[in-house]
Amino acid sequence: MKKIAVLTSGGDAPGMNAAIRAVVRKAAFHGIEVVGINHGYEGLLNGSMEPLDLGSVGDIIQRGGTKLYSARCLEFKEDAAQERAIANLRAADIEGLVVIGGDGSYRGAMGMVNKGFPVVGVPGTIDNDIPGTEYTIGFDTALNTVVESIDKIRDTANSHENSFIVEVMGRDAGDIALWAGLAAGAETVLIPEEEYNLDEIIARLERGAARGKKHSIIIVAEGVMSGSELAKLLKDKIGIETRVSVLGHIQRGGIPTARDRVLASRFGALAVELLMQGKAGRAVGIRNHQLIDYDMPEAFKKSHEADVSLYTLMKELSI
Ligand code: ADP
Ligand code: F6P
Repeated sequence: MKKIAVLTSGGDAPGMNAAIRAVVRKAAFHGIEVVGINHGYEGLLNGSMEPLDLGSVGDIIQRGGTKLYSARCLEFKEDAAQERAIANLRAADIEGLVVIGGDGSYRGAMGMVNKGFPVVGVPGTIDNDIPGTEYTIGFDTALNTVVESIDKIRDTANSHENSFIVEVMGRDAGDIALWAGLAAGAETVLIPEEEYNLDEIIARLERGAARGKKHSIIIVAEGVMSGSELAKLLKDKIGIETRVSVLGHIQRGGIPTARDRVLASRFGALAVELLMQGKAGRAVGIRNHQLIDYDMPEAFKKSHEADVSLYTLMKELSI
């Protein structure tokens, strides 16, 4: 293998740059050239490519976002688009591709693998929702951003004795909400993977108030409902006023944590090794602190599961 390409796709995640750097440096270490594809799958279709040498990935390990830009490209769901992408790659003498993205990106990647082009997947998404790996690039940074924000909200909640609903991202997954709830000591967390019971939430609020608590923090994952919908439910049911804070896209940005940088570096390097070994259609991941690789379709054929023990602990600690 003499030349490979790398792209980032789907929602950007802090640490993607560290993964790009690792792909380029690991490949260079083995004498392989790397081409960066801009704007995800869109760049594969319109040939937006640039050679990435050692220097081009200097000074990016600490930057959020992605140097290669990201995009959502609906056209790539079509076989014809995937065939065109493969033709463009072959015309540029590119023999393998590393796709850094979420499960949607993996589906596009498998489309190419099934048409004979070697692709390896690297999990990059703040949502931590890719089956097969315990962690994805960007989750740790997003989680820390959320926790820091809730710590700040707690200050004002305390001063004004207000209760807050904090809406966090995660698409259909509740990992950001659940982990943030544990780390920030929230009273209640609503995640899509577990049914919520409004009466139970209210009972917890009332128990807290009865023992003198002046404020509460409720975290709702966007996959359950919006913060304002939950605020309305509580207002309609017991007349309680809550402030709603939607953290939004600040969760996707920022300097990647050391943990995300290390994870991204390990994933990027392993992806290059897999391509060198001719292992196409594999995704990299981490389980029990060990780097692993597995068949990419496993990541989108199964659905994400939340760690039930964390959810139970969360409830026990916020009694
Ligand atoms: P993520 O990769 O973070 O899950 P998306 O679901 O938006 O983000 O997917 C990113 C891109 O992957 C899409 O814009 C599209 O180009 C490609 N993609 C998504 N789903 C499919 C699919 N079923 N088949 C082929 N390509 C897909
Ligand atoms: O997948 C990452 C993510 O930030 C999700 O948490 C969120 O639902 C979605 O992307 C938002 O996407 P967009 O920036 O396109 O609104």
